[in-house]
Amino acid sequence: MLNIGQIPALEKIRTPFYYYDMDLLKATLDALAASASSHGIEVHYAVKANVDERILRMISSCGFGADCVSGNEVLRAAECGFRPDNIVFAGVGKTEEEICNALKVGIFAFNCESLDELAVLNDLAGKMGMKANVSLRINPNIDSHTHKYITTGLYDNKFGIAAHEFDAAAAMFRECPNIVFNGLHFHIGSQIMDVEDVFSLECRRANEIAEYFESAGLSVANIDLGGGLGVDYADPDGSPIAAFDRWFGTIDANIDRKGGRRIHVEPGRSVVAQCGTLFTKVLYVKHGERKTFLITDAGMNDLIRPALYGAYHKVENVSAKFRGDASEKVYDVVGPVCESADVWGEDRVLPETGRGDLLAIRTAGAYGQVMSNRYNLRDYAGTVYSDSAGSGK
Ligand code: LLP
Repeated sequence: MLNIGQIPALEKIRTPFYYYDMDLLKATLDALAASASSHGIEVHYAVKANVDERILRMISSCGFGADCVSGNEVLRAAECGFRPDNIVFAGVGKTEEEICNALKVGIFAFNCESLDELAVLNDLAGKMGMKANVSLRINPNIDSHTHKYITTGLYDNKFGIAAHEFDAAAAMFRECPNIVFNGLHFHIGSQIMDVEDVFSLECRRANEIAEYFESAGLSVANIDLGGGLGVDYADPDGSPIAAFDRWFGTIDANIDRKGGRRIHVEPGRSVVAQCGTLFTKVLYVKHGERKTFLITDAGMNDLIRPALYGAYHKVENVSAKFRGDASEKVYDVVGPVCESADVWGEDRVLPETGRGDLLAIRTAGAYGQVMSNRYNLRDYAGTVYSDSAGSGK
């Protein structure tokens, strides 16, 4: 159930705003920690999903590591309490400045995505008189059965190093004095619902590739399987906490821990998606020729997932819940931005809704606020936390 009881004046806060249920976040982190420790898996939260300072601090205070994909994310993670030696840094296009900064911070490992990058890592670490700890991000050519834009492990994707370069990569570790082989990294996609099939295949492929590198004389001490666990957008109250046990159980049953190999994961969405809600007010109700439109004051600049991926987010009328309205109508719920893609949902059944009603756009904690922008020169949405009232503007 949407935990909004603690904010009596919710309807008075200037909309749109992101609302974070900190109790749900804590419960999610407790479940994650318990499941990870029972399966012997190390967790690095994928910072890209949500970089809110309070959220990062709560996650780091539970002892998790961080997975970053930019120099600024590395710095932000370190500032928000993540131990540097528990930070990993991936990304196909790391700049020299980002690499040097991460070396200075003293991160656990670079997840290196190309042979060119490997040469640059060796060069820069040498210039700084340091050694770079490097895992190879592998492109395992696995279909994660998810949206095209969030599939990352196929040969057509730009990510990772493909099989024909394994020999050359292994040779570089033997020849380059400033890079130290840390292990292998994978991340094959996001919002994966086919948990057992996809992740068991990923593990089997990781085992084979680890064998290959070991036979080339490199000890694979770490395997990082990336993130990707999906969440329930259709029924956020039915499944408020993601299926961590299913995910880690599948990994545990399929991964080869030869020689005490450490196993890592990088969940983002499954940690923060359900604790976030985008609140917005209905500005106008418009009766079109064929449809009735609810026009909200939040738009695709605040939450781009529906426009970019055709993603489903549940929409609820909070004011009607307080009023106890019963009669329902069918609406197209749309934003105010001058783009036809600015739609929250078509043919949504909602209680009869009027101007000024407060709507909740659910499951918005991951890839919501972080992907917002100021298109149409609109203001950024504010931030409100369940444990402290205030508009955050
Ligand atoms: N590790 C790496 C290297 C990644 O690229 C990602 C996400 C993750 C971990 C975390 O994956 P997660 O557990 O969140 O699935 N904006 C899109 C999602 C993009 C995901 C990018 N990479 C969306 O809104 O659906």
